[in-house]
Amino acid sequence: MNNVLRKRFANAFMANYATPQVALVRGAGCTVWDADGTEYLDLLAGIAVSSLGHAHPAIVDAVSSQVARLAHTSNLYANEPAIALAERLITLFGVPDARVFLCNDGATANEAAIKVALRHFPNRRHFVAAERSFHGRTLGALALTGKPAIREPFGSAALAVSFVPYGDPEALATAVTADTAAVFLEPTLGESGVIPPPAGYLRRAKEVCDRSGALLVLDEVQGGIGRTGRWFAHQHDDVVPDVMTLAKGLAGGLPIGACLATGAAADALGPGDHGSTFGGNPVSCAAALAVLDTIERDGLLAAVDDVGGLLARGITAVEHPLVAGVRGRGLWLGIALTRDVSPAVESAARAAGFLVNAPVPDTIRLTPPLVLTAEEVGSFLRAWPHILAASDTSAGRSR
Ligand SMILES: Cc1ncc(COP(=O)(O)O)c(C=O)c1O
Repeated sequence: MNNVLRKRFANAFMANYATPQVALVRGAGCTVWDADGTEYLDLLAGIAVSSLGHAHPAIVDAVSSQVARLAHTSNLYANEPAIALAERLITLFGVPDARVFLCNDGATANEAAIKVALRHFPNRRHFVAAERSFHGRTLGALALTGKPAIREPFGSAALAVSFVPYGDPEALATAVTADTAAVFLEPTLGESGVIPPPAGYLRRAKEVCDRSGALLVLDEVQGGIGRTGRWFAHQHDDVVPDVMTLAKGLAGGLPIGACLATGAAADALGPGDHGSTFGGNPVSCAAALAVLDTIERDGLLAAVDDVGGLLARGITAVEHPLVAGVRGRGLWLGIALTRDVSPAVESAARAAGFLVNAPVPDTIRLTPPLVLTAEEVGSFLRAWPHILAASDTSAGRSR
């Protein structure tokens, strides 16, 4: 990013984000270009968001025609794309009695799930989540809401949460009590570096929840919508959660979130219990329908399996002292490093024309568009040894 943009960024925004190295201006498929015309292969997709890559005609058409017809309705009026999307998500989830709440992003999908759990169990206030998990950054906007009728049914925003080691069903069984309203789990820890649980963990978690009656909430915000070669990551395991949250890849780059609840929890929220100005926005919903249609029509779930396998095997095949192995499934991969050098690897990859991400010091995360081709995988794999060599040198320099 040039110095002028860098300065404007720093002068205009709060300091919560580091000033980025690159300003992107355009994308097509899995390629993006920066403001200086430099081309990158996008192996991150805006952190698992641009599921069909950039400027996919199906999304462009769906969004353009919807925005030209009707951009917003509010929830006082129904709109066809939102209804069609909710119906579609219920079908893909495979639980006909599930019901949907549409919102704007991952955090608001999880906020909805918290409210579902609190309404479902008026007398349970305890939650269980995993150490190193990530579920979003809202502070419970409800705590600031000055309307008792809206706020008080949910109690204090300060939830009582026990954190347990991820992947340990015994720890979960100990933490879940008769007062536990819900257990929140990711199907794989995404922000902590794509760390899958041991086989059978999610199913054991469901059994633990069922014993106490607590809801199992699976946060599929990062892993859902085809990223692992199934519609939802938990579909690799023999488990159906009580509640599931979605966002990121669902609308391929437009803001959206969704919370699906099953059984009695599907009816937990009553009139006035929850809402969102933009939730169910017809433009985002039209984009989401285009994403789901395209994944289905183009056989992208199978493609994710194939191309993801190619990518993981190709990375594993390159022996290098910096690389410990590859974790994950489909196009949701974490390259485990032997040292805390992920920022150096990320920057060497960028210099070589590849966008990857360093979520934690010892892991490189790859969450490319689901339309990534074998040729594009090949171009990354050819560059990978050079990227490692360059990062080794630069990490060595900074030690
Ligand atoms: C598993 C998971 N849940 C929730 C969130 C929060 O989503 P958002 O940033 O859209 O609020 C994220 C974001 O990375 C996530 O990975």
